[in-house]
Amino acid sequence: MFDPGSLIVGLEIGTSKVCAVVGEVNSTGALNLIGVGQARSRGVRKGEIADAPLVEEDVRNAIVEAEQMADVEIRSVYLGVTGSHIRGFNNRGVHPVVSADREITEEDVQDVIKNAKAINLPAQNHVLHAIRQHFTVDGQDGIVNPTGMLGARVEVDVHVVHGNFNRLQNPIRTVKGLQLEVEAIVFNGLASSLALLTTEQKEMGALVIDIGGGTTNFAVYADGIIKHTGVLAVGGDHVSNDLAYGLKVPLGRAEQLKIERGSATADDNIKGQSFSISSELGLPEKSINLEHLRRIMTLRLEEIFQLIEQDIAQSGLLDYLRAGVFICGGGARIPDILKLAERVFQLPASLGKANSISGIKSALDQPEFATAIGLVKFGSFQQKKRRTGITEGIRQTFTDIFNRKS
Ligand SMILES: Nc1ncnc2c1ncn2[C@@H]1O[C@H](COP(=O)(O)OP(=O)(O)OP(=O)(O)O)[C@@H](O)[C@H]1O
Ligand SMILES: [Mg+2]
Repeated sequence: MFDPGSLIVGLEIGTSKVCAVVGEVNSTGALNLIGVGQARSRGVRKGEIADAPLVEEDVRNAIVEAEQMADVEIRSVYLGVTGSHIRGFNNRGVHPVVSADREITEEDVQDVIKNAKAINLPAQNHVLHAIRQHFTVDGQDGIVNPTGMLGARVEVDVHVVHGNFNRLQNPIRTVKGLQLEVEAIVFNGLASSLALLTTEQKEMGALVIDIGGGTTNFAVYADGIIKHTGVLAVGGDHVSNDLAYGLKVPLGRAEQLKIERGSATADDNIKGQSFSISSELGLPEKSINLEHLRRIMTLRLEEIFQLIEQDIAQSGLLDYLRAGVFICGGGARIPDILKLAERVFQLPASLGKANSISGIKSALDQPEFATAIGLVKFGSFQQKKRRTGITEGIRQTFTDIFNRKS
């Protein structure tokens, strides 16, 4: 039997599926995936809860399945959150060092971080993450830890992710309703990036895009540090919707066509090709133009990538992404999605693969599980920090988990 203290559970209540991943930290400190539970999600729209009782049932099913597979009892989870209300931006905090000898103390460091977090946000907003980027002491930038240095003025740059407090409470309440504790809430885009990127890739600069059913979440790293995050309330379901309208077929059929015949490119070699689909619900047999189908998909997917590209270009980060683009989420399964990403971003694109975690291979290889696996990783880093005694200012300390040393 496992020590319950070493168990870490990641839970994503997604638009298409609810998934719970159970990880265990073994005696050598390595992270091992020992169970996965999944349920079709019926009560989530664009990443947020739209029908709480249904969601509760789906979460319960996913948790029970994960418990059975891992042969453990799940008591708490690290919960992923997303939604169009979530925003990321960079902020700077400034703090004067007042001690006579001008030596910067741990207290000064905590104060400057507190200062950077004191952002003028509307009262209904909640800071999910305030991730340290780097410090500046008397104009010298790029300092990792200023404690013990001499200086008159300490500054810190942080990446802040915030969201609407009430909207963040909804998934928490669902989980608590199932008598489960929430250890922490983590933005899905950050969780996925934590699952996929190696330290080297963060150092080189990378963009992670998680294309889900109702949302697309992304995160940008450069020089080993998180620089930018974002959410679009558009995902694979919108591609299916477009197909339903454009091809004049029911939504269920559109989803099936997307998966069986879809692609993110419409090459010339399919010009004029068509195929027929059988009749359903009294509708006559229908001929579908394959080029038309793929053009509809390409347009929507291209638009998603272009919106992200514009957003990153505005922050001046495009030139820093030397490791390229990494794609995960169910949308990563769309044939030629990498080709499309390479064309839009003009960067190399790869399928994201979970790293530094072992265990059930079938789960590790599934692009849809990136968020939940990242949540497990987040939990393991947080627990490691707690064990090593870094407990002061826990919010500040654990939120640098995303940076280069992770
Ligand atoms: N082979 C495939 N081809 C095209 N699309 C696919 C394929 N497999 C899955 N998808 C799409 O991936 C999406 C589901 O992805 P995922 O499971 O990552 O979403 P989610 O995490 O539940 O949603 P979100 O994160 O937006 O709340 C759906 O739109 C589904 O149609
Ligand atoms: Mg998702």
